[in-house]
Amino acid sequence: MTTILGIESSCDETAVAIVVDGVEIRTNIIASQASKHAQFGGVIPELAAREHLKVIDQVVHEALKSADCTLDAVDAIAATRGPGLVPALLVGYSYAKALSAATQKPLIGVNHFHAHIYGALMNEPTEFVADPKNWPMMALVVSGGHTAILKLDISGEIEVIGQTLDDAAGEAFDKAAKLLHLGYPGGPVIQKVGDKGDPKKFHFPRSLIPSGGRKVRPEDRYNFSFSGLKTALLYHCQQYREDAQLEGQLLYDTVASYQEAIVDVLATKTFDAFKTFQCQTLILAGGVACNQPLRDRFTQKIPKYAKLCIAKPVLCTDNAAMVAGLAYYQYQNQDFTDLCQDVFPKLPALSQSPIRGSVK
Ligand code: KG4
Ligand code: ZN
Repeated sequence: MTTILGIESSCDETAVAIVVDGVEIRTNIIASQASKHAQFGGVIPELAAREHLKVIDQVVHEALKSADCTLDAVDAIAATRGPGLVPALLVGYSYAKALSAATQKPLIGVNHFHAHIYGALMNEPTEFVADPKNWPMMALVVSGGHTAILKLDISGEIEVIGQTLDDAAGEAFDKAAKLLHLGYPGGPVIQKVGDKGDPKKFHFPRSLIPSGGRKVRPEDRYNFSFSGLKTALLYHCQQYREDAQLEGQLLYDTVASYQEAIVDVLATKTFDAFKTFQCQTLILAGGVACNQPLRDRFTQKIPKYAKLCIAKPVLCTDNAAMVAGLAYYQYQNQDFTDLCQDVFPKLPALSQSPIRGSVK
């Protein structure tokens, strides 16, 4: 039995979890600062760091208490090392370093991007990942900072099949909510308002998808672009009101149609790649994977022979269970992090994933 305490502080959530053997979540505590950043319409890194600092010690103690666990019973301390906001990362990661030094338990620095992918696999038993029948896997990672389609092989090799050329899908939701004066974070409120609207009422552009004789360069077949969509929304709103403050059914239909354009592009490109690369498992991961119309579209489109893995919403947005869960794979490979290593802000080039199966 391997028990890992995980810490996540890459953005505006201070989260601590204790996970046994990569899948058994003993506790998963998330202290969100979203309301503190809402007035600014986005996350302020220094403010995030100060808020993490205020609560981190308390959240760690709460996690140990609620899991009825002591530090003695923990095998390793894991924490998000990057990518993310450096001031925010530093709080959780430095805390983890100190805990590791004080307890003499190994430190496991976790890549937040890989952790999001792993979050979608936590509902499955570990045998699922070990089973060659379920590979290769394809993952669509859609969060506030990333939008990418990846192919994962059983050996741990990972290949970026496509990615966004400009904004991430989460930004497309957040920026639209800001433009429409709906608040922050944008995804949940866009979904709520869009529920009351007709997604076919207006047509918003689907970038990098061939239509009406418009061709797409082969190298962009699996890439995304959301900046044109945002501009299209601005022009659409300005037809009605200079300040873009739409109301009532016009607002609902606008939001539903805008959301539909994002869902349509994400699903079309991902399923195209899934079939072309002959994958067996499809993973939908990251904060935007909470979006119900997106989840529904993926559920409708998944071929009968394949398996779709989408995490519960609480494991899609930032959390520490995915960090402690992924760290289990690193622990097994003795992939420990030296205390001299520091946090990193940007996603490094992807070639290997800690998530791998066993070839029998
Ligand atoms: O993965 P995450 O929690 O943080 C990052 O690593 O970025 O993702 C946050 C993003 C935000 O852009 C937020 O608006 C979006 O996930 N999001 C949603 C929904 N819930 C959160 N987007 C669409 N629909 C939702 N229900
Ligand atoms: Zn995230």
